[in-house]
This record gives sequence, C-alpha cells and structure tokens, in this order.
Amino acid sequence: MIITTGEAEAPTLVERARSLAQETGCRYVAREGRSLKRLAQMTGAEHVLVVLEGRVRLGGPGRSVMEFHPSMGFIRLKRVLNGNSDPMLEAARMEEGDSVLDCTAGLGADSLVFSVKGGKSGSITALESSFPLYVFLKEGLRTYESNMQVCNDAMRRIDVKHAHHRDYLKTLPDKSVDIVYFDPMFREPMNESASINPLRSYANNEALDEQSVREAVRVARKTVVLKEKRGSREFSRLGFTVPERSQSKIAYGVISIDRKA
Ligand SMILES: C[S@@+](CC[C@H](N)C(=O)[O-])C[C@H]1O[C@@H](n2cnc3c(N)ncnc32)[C@H](O)[C@@H]1O
Repeated sequence: MIITTGEAEAPTLVERARSLAQETGCRYVAREGRSLKRLAQMTGAEHVLVVLEGRVRLGGPGRSVMEFHPSMGFIRLKRVLNGNSDPMLEAARMEEGDSVLDCTAGLGADSLVFSVKGGKSGSITALESSFPLYVFLKEGLRTYESNMQVCNDAMRRIDVKHAHHRDYLKTLPDKSVDIVYFDPMFREPMNESASINPLRSYANNEALDEQSVREAVRVARKTVVLKEKRGSREFSRLGFTVPERSQSKIAYGVISIDRKA
C-alpha cells in the first residue's frame, strides 16, 4: 500500500502523508501530477491511500474508492445526544465511563456511537485486521472535521489498532474491559447496506470463531455483544441470546457476564 496526497500538494498535506506512511510502515509516494492509476502501476501497489484536506480516500486497481465519513454513526450519535435510545447501546448496557473493545472496527460508525456515549471518561479501542482499512480509519477518525465538536472529540478518542481480534483478546487480562463488541461481515450480505458494500473488497470476511467468543467472555466485565441479521444462526452457534425487542432486520445478541440472561 502506498500513501500520497491529492493533486494539490500543499506542504501540510505532504507532511501528513509522510508522517502517516512512517507511522504505519507504508511507502510515501509524491503525487507530482500523476493519476492514482499511474502511481499504482508504477509501484505495483494494491492499495492507494490519498490524504486530502480534512479527508482521506482509499482506492486501488479494480476496487471501489471510499472516502472516510462518519455516515450512519453521525446520524445515530445525533439521536443519542437528543436522548433517544440506540439498540446497540441498550444491548451492551453501555454507560458513561465504560470501556469498550470494538473487535470489528470497519468504518468506525459503531465505535463512534460507543465513544459519544462513553464520554471523556470512557475508552474505546477499535481493532481492524485489514491493513488498508486500519490505516484509512485511523487517519479518517484523526482528521475528519464535522460541524459538531462533540462528534470530532468522540472520533479523536477512539484508539484504532491493527490486530486480529482473537490474537488481541488473548493478550488481555480477565475482566479488563466492560464491553466486547463484534460486528463481523454478515454471512449473507444485505443489499441495502450501502455504506458497508464498498467495504467488502477490503474487509476480512471471515466468520466469527468460537475461540474469539470464549476469549471475549473471559475479558469482558459486563457484556459481549454480536450484531447480525435477525434470525441468523450465528447467534445460537456462538451462544448469544437475542432479546425480542424490535422487528428490525438487524439484531444484537448478548452474552451477559454480570447478570443471568
Ligand atoms: C461489518 S464491518 C464492521 C462495521 C463497523 N461496526 C462499523 O460500524 O463501521 C466488519 C469489519 O471487521 C473487520 N474484521 C473482520 N474480522 C476481523 C478480525 N478477526 N479482527 C479484526 N477485524 C476484523 C473487517 O475487516 C471489517 O472491516
């Protein structure tokens, strides 16, 4: 993967691109008026990350181009700030100050909602095993400027790490995080999930495995939560109970650690 800037190579952008490349072990390539296709051809890179003013874009030969935006997370956080409930937060029994390990960071929308709810005293760690997505999300959350300070602050508080969740969970002590959250790519894709579809070509599409769930149960103090399609067999296969609250197409299965289900 290479990192470059937009066509306008402002010194601040060049500096940002260079330092991100150094931080993540990628190669910085000066844009010098060349097309992204040309840069990819020249370097043989599979992924190209483009640093722009307040924005970041990810693409590559034969792949859809994504620009970082908090999308659905933004709409949901506004609802949460207005005092409305959010089914994910309810399933997790999230409270201000809680620590959350988001094991499937993706585009960071769920992490953002956790971060808003957790507030300044909360802590959110988001794990992403796909390297290009990890760099994209890390830079997106760090630089995206929305028109809401509370959203910007919540994005900056998320600590994004490049890790497979099973390996990372193994390194954590027992009962060291309040909530462990999984949102793996659905076993059967949902057509209407417009923001997730471009992600597919970059994402780790593996099913969630039993060992990761066992580790999550060991590490969590409060809840382990799995997001899946309503009616998915993944819930029973992995030992999650689904509250029959709504008719939504998405459901949140829960393993309660501190209470009997
Ligand atoms: C459905 S998306 C998550 C969407 C995310 N909840 C959001 O709000 O944007 C699943 C993400 O988890 C990542 N993933 C899948 N398996 C993983 C693993 N074992 N460890 C870390 N990340 C993983 C995928 O690469 C993908 O980006």
